[in-house]
Amino acid sequence: MAKKKLVILSGAGISAESGIPTFRASDGLWEGHDVMEVATPQGWKNNPELVLEFYNQRRKRALEVVPNRAHEICAELEEYFDVQIITQNVDNLHERGGSTNILHLHGELFKSRSTADPNLVYEMDGWELNMGDLCEKGSQLRPHIVWFNEAVPLIVPAMELSEKADIFIVVGTSLQVYPAADLINYVPETSLKFVVDLNLPAVPDRKNLFMIQGKATTGMQKVLETLLERKAHL
Ligand code: APR
Repeated sequence: MAKKKLVILSGAGISAESGIPTFRASDGLWEGHDVMEVATPQGWKNNPELVLEFYNQRRKRALEVVPNRAHEICAELEEYFDVQIITQNVDNLHERGGSTNILHLHGELFKSRSTADPNLVYEMDGWELNMGDLCEKGSQLRPHIVWFNEAVPLIVPAMELSEKADIFIVVGTSLQVYPAADLINYVPETSLKFVVDLNLPAVPDRKNLFMIQGKATTGMQKVLETLLERKAHL
């Protein structure tokens, strides 16, 4: 029998136990910066050096950390299900945790992109991207990140995946950023839905919805156990 389709929507909370801070800290800043300065097209226009340096530091940090048990569980689920990750995270911890189907809704830290042609996207070797680093057409490279006030190019495939999910797991996201926050609403009524978070986000009450409050590592362990118990009936 074909494996059931399991979709995981992850956010910053899944990488928190690896040592990458989440976004919505109480001071309203992101690693000491105003989000508008470092993660918007306007910020890039005003001070590209600052933006490049900000993402260089994020990359440097990402190289120092390792995937945690929650990332590993996402990968282990592939043994039993047809797993698709939709992540809002730009780190590569899902990849390094062993998952194979990963859609990066908000871009990828370890890729750069041409400012002249958005189709020119490059893998990065190290952590540094600087002024003067150019694409093959001679234009400045920028981080391959979806900034605030920018379109989300992969939202349509993400919606289609959500519509087809037999099981949908939301883990470690405050669900405050659209259109990602809306994906759960595309999941069919009959499908199993899990929400795992330290501080559970508000989700409309629906059929087959399990809210699991806790860390991503322990919460995902519970999801794994629940799914394995029910697997025969899914
Ligand atoms: N385990 C589980 N959940 C956790 C943990 C943990 N160890 N630590 C924090 N959380 C939860 C928080 O309770 C919160 O609900 O993770 C969530 C993180 O929320 P945000 O910081 O808002 O991150 P996210 O939802 O991924 O942000 C979405 O916004 O800033 C933009 O583009 C950026 O992709 C990002 C998007």
